[in-house]
Amino acid sequence: MVQDKTFYITTPIYYVNDVPHIGHAYTTIACDTMARYKRMQGYSVRFLTGTDEHGQKIQAAAEAKGITPQALVDKIHMNFKDLWRVLNISNDDFIRTTEERHIKTVQAMFAKLIAQGDIYKGTYSGYYCVPDETYVPENAMGPNKTCPDCGRPLTIMEEESYFFRGSKYVPELIAFYEEHLKAVMPRVRYNEIMSFLKGGVRDQSVSRTSLKWGIPVPGDEKHVIYVWFDALINYTAAIGYLDDPEMFNKWWPHVRHMVGKDIIRFHCVIWPLMLLALGLPLPVEVIAHGWWTVDGDKMSKTKGNVVDPVKMVNRYGLDPFRYFLLREVPFGNDGDFSELALVGRINSDLANDLGNLLNRTLQMIQSYRGGVVPSCVEPASVLSGLFPEILSRVDEAMNNYSYDEALKIIWEFISRANKFIDETMPWKLAKDESQAERLSFVLLNLYEALRLSALLIAPFMPDTAKRIWTQLGQSGDPLAVQYDAFRWGDGAGANIQKAEVLFPRIDIEQWKKDREMENTAKIPEPPHEAEIGIEDFGKVEMRVAQITKCEEIPKSKKLYKLEVDLGYEKRTVCSGIKAFFTTEELVGKRIILVTNLKPVKLCGVESNGMILCASVKKDGKSEQLTLLMPEKDIPLGSRVS
Ligand code: MSP
Repeated sequence: MVQDKTFYITTPIYYVNDVPHIGHAYTTIACDTMARYKRMQGYSVRFLTGTDEHGQKIQAAAEAKGITPQALVDKIHMNFKDLWRVLNISNDDFIRTTEERHIKTVQAMFAKLIAQGDIYKGTYSGYYCVPDETYVPENAMGPNKTCPDCGRPLTIMEEESYFFRGSKYVPELIAFYEEHLKAVMPRVRYNEIMSFLKGGVRDQSVSRTSLKWGIPVPGDEKHVIYVWFDALINYTAAIGYLDDPEMFNKWWPHVRHMVGKDIIRFHCVIWPLMLLALGLPLPVEVIAHGWWTVDGDKMSKTKGNVVDPVKMVNRYGLDPFRYFLLREVPFGNDGDFSELALVGRINSDLANDLGNLLNRTLQMIQSYRGGVVPSCVEPASVLSGLFPEILSRVDEAMNNYSYDEALKIIWEFISRANKFIDETMPWKLAKDESQAERLSFVLLNLYEALRLSALLIAPFMPDTAKRIWTQLGQSGDPLAVQYDAFRWGDGAGANIQKAEVLFPRIDIEQWKKDREMENTAKIPEPPHEAEIGIEDFGKVEMRVAQITKCEEIPKSKKLYKLEVDLGYEKRTVCSGIKAFFTTEELVGKRIILVTNLKPVKLCGVESNGMILCASVKKDGKSEQLTLLMPEKDIPLGSRVS
């Protein structure tokens, strides 16, 4: 049977109200790598990503900002588009659920399902998670009626609703999965979906009357279509379901969805049931990856530990970041993101293994053969013998979406090449004229190992592959080389370029100091104080004053006793700033004083006011501190407002 070389891969479409983080970056980089890999294998590839722009949260966020939801999504969907540019994502299309092509497709499918009786009207009542926009079945609720996914309290909702008769197609879906064991990957997710399906699936409520920001139900505009029913359809809308049958039929039978494990029920139950009802083929594969935590914690805005991919790329470079995400965690498992682990990988795998192999090889070709790759009579070696096996193992791993495994195999090859240098000791051969042929054999083999390694890593690290390629004196783009041409022995005669360091080693001690500095300088995120009105603020009287005297208080490690001049009177104030200033530094400074605080006694001294400072605190203790001072001269006693 001739294998059909068509491959359509999709990311989930991202909620625009979230700030893009490493979780989103991960799904998209994994798809990008697969798309690039398949293109090199000669497949026709289509790679789709996009944004999910309807729903309660957007409506609420727009209301809070006083703008229309459309204006809001027009602006914030760009966060994702911009990130994909930074991450060198090679998507062919980007779909937004507010685009006309999408809205029309959703309405047409909804109308078709109503017409054939697979969508009907009823009343829905159930426990609903407002932030997640999903009803939660009673048997799946968390303790005290909370959402099992996010832990927040559920509310009872009752509304007239359209229902999708998905239950009707469940036996057909089970039969499909029984025949297609790789339709849900990895196996643990397949089992999860099968047992869920066998437990029975109720008809799904697919419209809301409580929400405005969504796609109206055709012919019944007080309902909008439920966000998930709307969102899933993007995969078909983007390839011309409605108006381009040729395009649709080319790609749809070859579709693969990559998703996080949290959204597999939507993709492996609801979506296939919808497709069966619509008479469309089911996805070839739905691949579910695990979740990233950060230093052992769940990422969340409130914890302030959300990792920004752009920051990581700026700090470590794009390809090391891509490499780390795909190499660190067995695909499908959860993973923990730690910058220290990323630095470890850069130093060992990238700088040491790959970087050194390139550097040593190029330097030897330069010194011993004037920068021209030699030929030799019998080029077969342990490396050339190993390569075909490496190639087929990488292919097998990639067919299972085992990115980490594929990278491990490629690095086995790189390590073998490094060992080959140690075994053959070219620097010794170079000193002995009679070993010239053997030296050529060694250099050619190392060159070939590098040339083929560059091709193998190209889908994962496209820029690095290109940099190696150029240094090796090869022309064009390694990504344009087709898999069929991954053959040993094309290198002889190439003129290499000057060796340049691919990945500078990171000095761990310096890195630790930098991170410490950064952490102490980190301003804690919320909780902020509750909002106050201007009338509350007006109750605080603050004035410009000058410090005229400063004395230590013998009983106190922290406090100074200060005399301050307000122009119209002098006061004594105690201030806990001893750790940051000498007495001489303070005398003469013009500061801002809160003048209407009730007097307090501190270490036996009555304090009549408070000096304003800004500080960075850690564990409740100030680590950095500065006085707030007027920017220009202004009479003492002037009021601050
Ligand atoms: N809009 C829906 C998807 C609709 S698809 C028809 C959605 N969006 S999302 O922005 O919340 O999530 C998109 C993807 O990011 C999901 O695959 C999700 O698993 C992934 N991730 C979000 N946080 C993640 C981690 N912390 N770690 C790994 N991936 C995570 O769901």
